[in-house]
Amino acid sequence: MTRHLITSAIPYINGVKHLGNLVGSQLPADLYARYLRGRGHEVLFLCATDEHGTPAELAAAKAGKPVEEYCAEMHEVQADIAQRFGMSFDHFGRSSSLQNQKLTQHFAGVLADQGLIEEVTEQQVYSNTDGRFLPDRYIEGTCPNCGFDSARGDQCDNCTKQLDPADLINPRSTISGSTDLEKRDTKHLFLRQSQMKDRLDAWINSKTNWPILTTSIAKKWLHDGDGLRDRGITRDLNWGVPVKRGDADWPGMEGKVFYVWFDAPIEYIACSQEWVDAGKGTDWQRWWRTDAGAQDVRYTQFMGKDNVPFHTLSFPATIMGSAEPWKLVDYIKSFNYLTYDGGQFSTSRGRGVFMDQALDILPADYWRWWLLSHAPETSDAEFTWENFQSSVNKDLADVLGNFVSRITKFCRSKFGEAVPTEGTYGDAEIALIDDLSTRVTAYEKQMDAIEVRKSAQELRAIWAAGNEYLQAQAPWTTFKTDPDKAAAQVRLALNLIPLYARLAEPFIPEASAKMLSAMKLSDMPWPDDVPSALQHLAPGHTFEVPEVLFAKITDEDRDTWQERFAGKRD
Ligand code: MF3
Ligand code: ZN
Repeated sequence: MTRHLITSAIPYINGVKHLGNLVGSQLPADLYARYLRGRGHEVLFLCATDEHGTPAELAAAKAGKPVEEYCAEMHEVQADIAQRFGMSFDHFGRSSSLQNQKLTQHFAGVLADQGLIEEVTEQQVYSNTDGRFLPDRYIEGTCPNCGFDSARGDQCDNCTKQLDPADLINPRSTISGSTDLEKRDTKHLFLRQSQMKDRLDAWINSKTNWPILTTSIAKKWLHDGDGLRDRGITRDLNWGVPVKRGDADWPGMEGKVFYVWFDAPIEYIACSQEWVDAGKGTDWQRWWRTDAGAQDVRYTQFMGKDNVPFHTLSFPATIMGSAEPWKLVDYIKSFNYLTYDGGQFSTSRGRGVFMDQALDILPADYWRWWLLSHAPETSDAEFTWENFQSSVNKDLADVLGNFVSRITKFCRSKFGEAVPTEGTYGDAEIALIDDLSTRVTAYEKQMDAIEVRKSAQELRAIWAAGNEYLQAQAPWTTFKTDPDKAAAQVRLALNLIPLYARLAEPFIPEASAKMLSAMKLSDMPWPDDVPSALQHLAPGHTFEVPEVLFAKITDEDRDTWQERFAGKRD
């Protein structure tokens, strides 16, 4: 048994996330957390809302609400949707928590003590019309790198280059649209991450088993001169963690806050303190402090590729630079993008399916299965309604759902709603048990490696093996000549249901629970030994025929949905 700490990139507070966001972080993290718990490991799975920065302020302004109120409401909305999607977080925290405020100020203090923080007076864009500085998303203009005309102050969405508001060509305020802007002096704190280049380089190079997507992005940033330059970690904003040096005021930094990307990853740690303070746990240090037991923890992070630089360089620079015994991440699983029907998901244009809308039309398991079995691991992946319809109908309805329904109904009609006692297993049964033993091992291997798509393929193959067995042995035909043999076939096939439920739980937890409850089981242990797991339902054990597990998606539904999600969100 190992202790596993798992974090998902924390979603911005500014609205309900779309399926592309979900598949890049929360969902695969949940898959892995559920799997490891299933294998008997101790797991702490954390996520939170990312509540600071200009995205939060802008969204609150748009909603016409004070930012604190907006964040509190949206946190509840996101927590509710995550729960309905089956996210098994041990805690869903808030980066605006007092715990995170204190810890962020603490890190700034120790980094300063280590000589890694520099006070810099620089020129920032000031809007005369708005009477304030315009950091990050408060300013838009033409990208100096690619010429895109709606680049934001912090980053160009077209070429992904990180920008400085002062670099934009033809800048304008996103608050008022004003172009009456000037550059004014303002003092900020810079994290001297360039000082840590060699340590970060050695650390990344030691991670030889990390996904190529993760290490290639990290190395590109490390070696492309610009990537590790010292960056400002404070902003001229009201909303955020007030700049302090530990508990002490920071002269000259009054009224300023830390940059959202400085405090957000620290929330991973603060979230475990929130978890303890909420009475759900007792000891956060043993997960995070290597002087309190965390050296035995295996820490895995999940995120989309745009988050990789912050998790491979900036946050490790904060941790390493502190010279305190904090746990560093052991494995970073990152994802490419999911595209939507020939284009991008777009939050601003409401293009694509958002988490709340998805649950309005179908239960979570349908989405979980499609998203995970098509996870954008080696390249970007595309969501199309045809593909969604065909995967759901084939894998879930025809293969898994049909298997469960067919065998339980057949048993009910010939033997009643209890596992038949007669007959013994022959060659075909022994061959199936053997085959499943091999396949379960292959499934575990892919799950251990967090190969999400390959795991889904193995699981599908395990379901298909049951169907093929049933097809070939045809107990409904056997029954006519040899009812005892048919009884043995049915006994084995019924025993596949709890096995399937247990194996599939990380992907489709609701259906898995329905399968177990139909088999009148409150629990099913992980099949460490497949032959004995297939005797879990003893002869005579009663069950019920479950309701249809998965309904097929009709062509008409598909066309309606395709139309509905093509454009503006209502
Ligand atoms: N909110 C960011 C995003 O959605 C992710 C923050 S992850 C953390 O892209 F490390 F900062 F916490
Ligand atoms: Zn650009």
